[in-house]
Amino acid sequence: MKFSLFSESRTQEVVDLFKSVFSESESDEEGKVIADFVEKLITTTRPTDLIGFVAEEKERIVGCIFFSRFIVPNGQEAFILSPVAVATQVQGAGIGQKLIQFGLDHLKSLNVSLAFTYGDPGFYSRTGFEQINEDVVKAPCPLSQPIGWLAQSLNGKKIQAMTGSTQCVEALNDPDLW
Ligand SMILES: CC(C)(COP(=O)(O)OP(=O)(O)OC[C@H]1O[C@@H](n2cnc3c(N)ncnc32)[C@H](O)[C@@H]1OP(=O)(O)O)[C@@H](O)C(=O)NCCC(=O)NCCS
Repeated sequence: MKFSLFSESRTQEVVDLFKSVFSESESDEEGKVIADFVEKLITTTRPTDLIGFVAEEKERIVGCIFFSRFIVPNGQEAFILSPVAVATQVQGAGIGQKLIQFGLDHLKSLNVSLAFTYGDPGFYSRTGFEQINEDVVKAPCPLSQPIGWLAQSLNGKKIQAMTGSTQCVEALNDPDLW
């Protein structure tokens, strides 16, 4: 398994991966929603605000994750992980966790201080994410599942409570995704 940075030339392959994974795990409709979201994320986000990673097996992308810039009130450098997909046939083999850890290590090497995500705490706690209350850091949109608001410090310091609103990139700034 090879882990590397996503490059724009792989856009179609990655959009197709998200479409098939979410169609199979949820519904065709959800597959289309996520595929459209990923395409928008790639095409509308400034290159400095988006970092993607792929897992490849024999030149074929079998996993993909994106981190996009997240502006927090105290000015710390932060990114948010969304979305995440591993090809249905190879799920449950540790690829998702390894790919997320690879991405987090890369963010640390860029001196990013905080990582956030929104999802299942049971899965994301395996790579260091913990539930975070909105009293500490607000989510950018109203949360349908507040239990899924998760974060981790990447610089070894405890996350400090911050007052004020936060801002995600345009593609993620869609209440339907939250
Ligand atoms: C969620 C996903 C990315 C995990 O990737 P993966 O490579 O299958 O995961 P790993 O092999 O690293 O980890 C598997 C473990 O996580 C658990 N897990 C996987 N998906 C989970 C989920 N949605 N919620 C809770 N736990 C989950 C598995 O039960 C497994 O636990 P075990 O080792 O005790 O059996 C992948 O299954 C996927 O793409 N699913 C469909 C799309 C999706 O739901 N993406 C967003 C997740 S919020």
